Amino acid sequence: MKDHAQNDRLAWWREARFGMFIHFGVYAVSGHGEWDYYYEHIPQDEYVRLADRFVPEHYNPREWVRIAQDAGMRYMVMVTRHHDGFCMYDSKVSDFTSTKRAAKRDFIAEFAEACHSAGMRMGLYYSLVDWRFPGALFNIPRQPDEVYAPMVEQAHAQVREILTNYGKVDILWYDMAVPAGVWRAEELNAMARELQPDILINNRAGTPEDFGTPENAIVPEKRAWEACYTMNETWGYAEGDRNWKSANQLIYLLATCASGGGNLLLNVGPEPDGRFPREAVDRLRQVGAWMRTNGAAIYGAQPSPVTAPALGWGTYAGGKVYLIILRWPGSTVPFAWCANKVLKAKLLITGEEARIEQKGDRVWLHGFPEYPPDNLPSVIELTLDGEPKAAVPSFGLGDTRET
Ligand code: GLC
Repeated sequence: MKDHAQNDRLAWWREARFGMFIHFGVYAVSGHGEWDYYYEHIPQDEYVRLADRFVPEHYNPREWVRIAQDAGMRYMVMVTRHHDGFCMYDSKVSDFTSTKRAAKRDFIAEFAEACHSAGMRMGLYYSLVDWRFPGALFNIPRQPDEVYAPMVEQAHAQVREILTNYGKVDILWYDMAVPAGVWRAEELNAMARELQPDILINNRAGTPEDFGTPENAIVPEKRAWEACYTMNETWGYAEGDRNWKSANQLIYLLATCASGGGNLLLNVGPEPDGRFPREAVDRLRQVGAWMRTNGAAIYGAQPSPVTAPALGWGTYAGGKVYLIILRWPGSTVPFAWCANKVLKAKLLITGEEARIEQKGDRVWLHGFPEYPPDNLPSVIELTLDGEPKAAVPSFGLGDTRET
C-alpha cells in the first residue's frame, strides 16, 4: 500500500543516497572492534576502567562533517549507545555515560551541533540490547519477560532522551532487538514519531517502519532500503584490521546500491583520540572527487530499465540515464535492449560527446577514449527521447522501484 506521508518523509533520503555511519565508543580504546566486551568476556569493572581511558582529545565532529560533505555524503548516523551500554551522551537513567565518566563530554550534543550548523542531516543509532543487563547476553536461555523489563524501560527512556535533547533528528537507527518481542516496538516508535514527526526509522526494532537495512550485503527491496557497510571489516576501530576496501570498491558498492534504488551507509570507526583513521580519510577523499564529477548518477538515482549490463550499472536520475562503466570497453561503448532513441551521450569526466549509432534496440557510442578515462568507474550520461524503456525484461538488479 502506498503511504504518501512516508514517501514524503523519505524524499530527502532517496535523493541523498550516500551517508556516513560512525561507530565510536569505549571500544575504540582497546582497538578490537565494538564487540570486544562480549567476545573477550571483559568483566564489567574492567570495562568501566576502559571507559575511564576513553578521553578523545581530538574529538571534533565539525571536522567529521566536513570530511563527510567533501565525500559527497548527505547524512550521518552516529552511535549514541552500542551493545556495551556506554552512552555517548548525558543520559539521566544511566551512570555509564561519557558525561559521568572520564571524558566529561556529551559527544552527541557536539555531534548534533556540528550537523545542524552545517545543514547535514543527522541520524542517531541506538542499540536496544545492553549487555550489562540480566538476560542480555546471547548464550543464555530465554528468560521470562520480567527479567528484561529493566532493559526495556531503559530503552524507552533513552530513546526519549536522544529524541528530545538534540534538536532535529532525521533518522532513528535501531539495532539488535535481542531478545525479540520484548521491546514494545509499536509504543516506542509511536513515541519517536510524536517527538520527531518527520523522523525516518529503520526496521531493526522488530517492526518494518521506513526502510530495510541489509548489512554488509546489497539486497534490494521493493521498499526503501539502505545497505550499511564497513570500510574495512569492523565497525568500531580495530587496530589490526587492515582489510580496507579500495576507493574503486567503495564506488562499486555505492553504484550498486544506487542502481538498485537504495542507499549506502558507509562506516567509519574513529581512533581512540577521535580522529578518523588515515586510510578512511584517504578513501573518502577519492570517493568525494569522483562524486564531484559523477554524483549526478547517484543522487536521487532509481534503477534504470536501460543499462549496459556487460559493462557495469545503470541508474536513472534527474531525467537522464547514467551508465556507470566498471569495465571500460574501448573507444566504442556498445549496449543493447534500449527501446528509446538515444539523443546524446556524454562522458562526464571529460565532457566529450559520442557519435551515436543506433540500430533498433542496439546502440554504439563511438569516439570515446581507447583506454579507461579514469582509474575509477567512468560515467556516461545518456539523454533519451523520453522515459527509459527496456526492449527486453530488465537485467542487473531488477526493478526495485515502488509501485
Ligand atoms: C550489528 C552489530 C553491530 C553493528 C551493526 C551495524 O548488528 O552487532 O556491531 O553496529 O550491526 O549494522
